[in-house]
Amino acid sequence: MKKIRITGIIGSPRLKKNTDALVQQALEGCKSKGAAVDTIYLNQLEIKPCQAHKVQDGKGCIIRDDMDAVYEIFERSDGLVLGTPVYYNSVSSQMKLMIDRSYCLAKAVPLGPGKRQYVTAVKKAKKGVVISVGGSGTKPDCVLPIFDIWSKEVNLDIIDTLCVSEAQLGGLPMDSDQTAKAAFEKGRNLVSRLINNP
Ligand SMILES: Cc1cc2nc3c(=O)[nH]c(=O)nc-3n(C[C@H](O)[C@H](O)[C@H](O)COP(=O)(O)O)c2cc1C
Repeated sequence: MKKIRITGIIGSPRLKKNTDALVQQALEGCKSKGAAVDTIYLNQLEIKPCQAHKVQDGKGCIIRDDMDAVYEIFERSDGLVLGTPVYYNSVSSQMKLMIDRSYCLAKAVPLGPGKRQYVTAVKKAKKGVVISVGGSGTKPDCVLPIFDIWSKEVNLDIIDTLCVSEAQLGGLPMDSDQTAKAAFEKGRNLVSRLINNP
């Protein structure tokens, strides 16, 4: 049987801190169910901001930069574990660059005179988990509506979320057995869902 491929996409600039640690824990859970895992750190990529070229025929973006590697991930991963810190009640700018540059992945389908519907041009259907970590200021689930809209653009079904506040944890999430275990289990469950319902 082909190995399930899961990619962790990390939107925090801080390696091994809250977001990274929780995504890695989820990926460990994926591995424990036999998946092959990979991680990309958006902060290490050169991704230009969306220039709103409005090429909405599903042919993709006309800018050539490191986002190309991310587009490839959207087409070859079976599952994604997305992690972002909460910045000003939103996702990090690293994550937002990736999200905005996905706009070009929608294509217009005519629905009748003057009517059209936008559907994803990404062929690969994926399942995913979203992880967010906030400080003391905000409810960390404030990022979920953004991921909800974006997921349709990239053919992703978000099956689970883990939104935690570092204020509740009193240190790195990994100091909290409960949070680490929750992330691990969500990774395991993601792979189980992909195996049972590909
Ligand atoms: C630019 C910036 C903006 C932030 N804005 C918020 C915020 O609006 N609400 C909040 O609860 N925490 C906020 N924080 C705190 C981070 O969300 C928090 O420290 C998070 O755990 C960092 O994740 P990381 O360890 O993966 O980098 C902000 C931090 C930074 C650097």
